[in-house]
Amino acid sequence: MTERDYVLGTHDEEIARLGLQHRVWRPTVLECWKRAGIARGNKVVDVGAGPGFATLDLADIVGPTGEVLAAERSERFLETAKKACAGRGLSNVRFRSMDLMNESLGVTGFDAAWCRWVACFVSSPQTLMQKIADALRPGGLAMFHEYSNYSTFQFTPRRPALERFALEVMASWRTAGGEPNIGLDLPALLPAVGFRLRQVRHHVFAVTPRDEFWQWPASFVGINVDRLRELGRVSADWAGQVRRDFQEAEADERTVFTTPLVLEVIAERQ
Ligand SMILES: C[S@@+](CC[C@H](N)C(=O)[O-])C[C@H]1O[C@@H](n2cnc3c(N)ncnc32)[C@H](O)[C@@H]1O
Repeated sequence: MTERDYVLGTHDEEIARLGLQHRVWRPTVLECWKRAGIARGNKVVDVGAGPGFATLDLADIVGPTGEVLAAERSERFLETAKKACAGRGLSNVRFRSMDLMNESLGVTGFDAAWCRWVACFVSSPQTLMQKIADALRPGGLAMFHEYSNYSTFQFTPRRPALERFALEVMASWRTAGGEPNIGLDLPALLPAVGFRLRQVRHHVFAVTPRDEFWQWPASFVGINVDRLRELGRVSADWAGQVRRDFQEAEADERTVFTTPLVLEVIAERQ
């Protein structure tokens, strides 16, 4: 089957980056799920599950009496998720190879849905919200982590090439039909398909090169500069400047990186 790629790519390095990304965001995610009351026996859909890093955690939480459906378009990501679940002997995860823009999630009556960094890549967030609503029971919860202001991606002291990089990342997602700041629209999109907002909050971190969280921008900049080259969007010179700015930031003990602002939404299906 042909691989269904997207703007960030589905290559092995990107799979490893998504694993690292899940590791640094994991405490924030676990806290969100706890606040939403995700528990043993629940049926949860991981919408745009990627290689399944959150799927594995959800499967542990819901346990053998619960169920996780990992819905994802990329065959490479799904294969990685399947292998990881098999490696852990998990039998409570189902996989669905699907394009969220064209197909339904194929389930109804689920207790919850987890959707992280997916709405920013789809051509119709309304369609995505409707598919999620259709999969949940009344009272079921949809949980989102999406960017609401990508421009907070900034370095102090200022690094002009890295500021240009953040703008280029946003432009590349928009060219591919997505919207990086889609979080801004969620509080209006969700009620339109029958959800009531339960909790809304922001997540933003100030990170230094000495923090483990630093590996998140480090891997994203390293891999995405190559991806932007591959997409034909930037020159070798441009990429070199971004890499140099990042190396200088990393070597500068005054450096503070502000993460792109994430909006967390927990909404209840009416
Ligand atoms: C940045 S990754 C996030 C993966 C995962 N949610 C996580 O947090 O690790 C975005 C994911 O959305 C998936 N995706 C984007 N558009 C999709 C679509 N139309 N249908 C299904 N999956 C899609 C991509 O294949 C990718 O796995």
